[in-house]
Amino acid sequence: MKTFRDTNVLITGGLGFIGSNLAIALANEGANVTILDLLVPEYGGNWFNIEPVRDCVEVHLGDIRDLELVSTLVTGKDYIFHLAAQVDHFLNRCDPFPDLDINIRGTVNLLEACKHYNPEARFIYCGTRGEYGHVCHLPADEETPLHPTGLYELSKCTGGQIALLYHSLYGLSTTVLRATNTYGPRSQMKHARYGVVNWFVRLAIDDEVLRVFGDGLIKRDFLFVDDCVNALRMCALSEAACGELFNVGVDHPTTILELIQTLIEVAHSGHWEYAPYTPERAAQEPGDFYSDIAKIQALVGWEPDVPLDVGLMRTVEYYHAFKPHYW
Ligand SMILES: NC(=O)c1ccc[n+]([C@@H]2O[C@H](COP(=O)([O-])OP(=O)(O)OC[C@H]3O[C@@H](n4cnc5c(N)ncnc54)[C@H](O)[C@@H]3O)[C@@H](O)[C@H]2O)c1
Repeated sequence: MKTFRDTNVLITGGLGFIGSNLAIALANEGANVTILDLLVPEYGGNWFNIEPVRDCVEVHLGDIRDLELVSTLVTGKDYIFHLAAQVDHFLNRCDPFPDLDINIRGTVNLLEACKHYNPEARFIYCGTRGEYGHVCHLPADEETPLHPTGLYELSKCTGGQIALLYHSLYGLSTTVLRATNTYGPRSQMKHARYGVVNWFVRLAIDDEVLRVFGDGLIKRDFLFVDDCVNALRMCALSEAACGELFNVGVDHPTTILELIQTLIEVAHSGHWEYAPYTPERAAQEPGDFYSDIAKIQALVGWEPDVPLDVGLMRTVEYYHAFKPHYW
């Protein structure tokens, strides 16, 4: 069976939430892990995230938009996981350019570097279920029409489509994932503009009020970060995944209300109340969503493993233990 032992891996955004969890998993599996991260203030990068493997991973503080740097870093790598991005869903309302510049131009930069210096590398791009926006039928499969509700979602969708184009035009071994709401250890916890679950975890740990917008019956699928990491690594190891696009999610939904009630039960702290949507949340709220994961199950053999209550318990335990590094 193929593993990452003794392989050379580049993870962009490897000091961030998903990237650092991936870096730890692959370093523990015996890979030589190189991280490229700009540690943009307010984004999710945090040195403490890679504490368990700090001595055995190589970290470059730099920008994916620096073509010379990325050309050097992609050279000789067997696997490239592209996770660096501007992830704040609301930033574009005051500044549209980081979404376009980092998420699209930065992605093209990496693909160009691979095309010229390492066309054999496996290239895994992590997009988002937000690219689907409002959907007409559920669960949403990969053929569902895209209606992104914001510039972040649109930029991620464009980056993913360009990655697939580099497969069909230039033969690069790209795979594109659309990951659903991911939660767990090592996320930024300083503001509420990223994923909702981790923000609710912070409020619950601080015994504060968790506000449920609307009636709380909106359906979502919530993915524990270890499951997301496993999807990234299994896709990279799968020949069948080359040139493919996969949903990475949970094919049975949870309402926001169920999420909050489970979290408060698990954390033994926090309270909840109903609240009206803020105008900015209402404008970007895509309604019910959960993923059809039949394609990745069939082609790659991946499926989520961690139930919501277990994932929330592990998340609460982590932030209780390491709160000063995240609050
Ligand atoms: N967290 C989720 O729920 C979720 C869901 C679906 C998809 N994704 C995607 O997964 C990826 C990782 O997201 P995350 O939640 O870990 O975010 P994160 O903010 O925690 O990590 C992103 C990292 O990228 C770095 N970065 C940003 N711009 C950079 C640049 N120009 N050059 C180098 N590094 C740069 C940041 O410093 C940060 O450490 C993103 O591509 C995101 O779109 C995340």
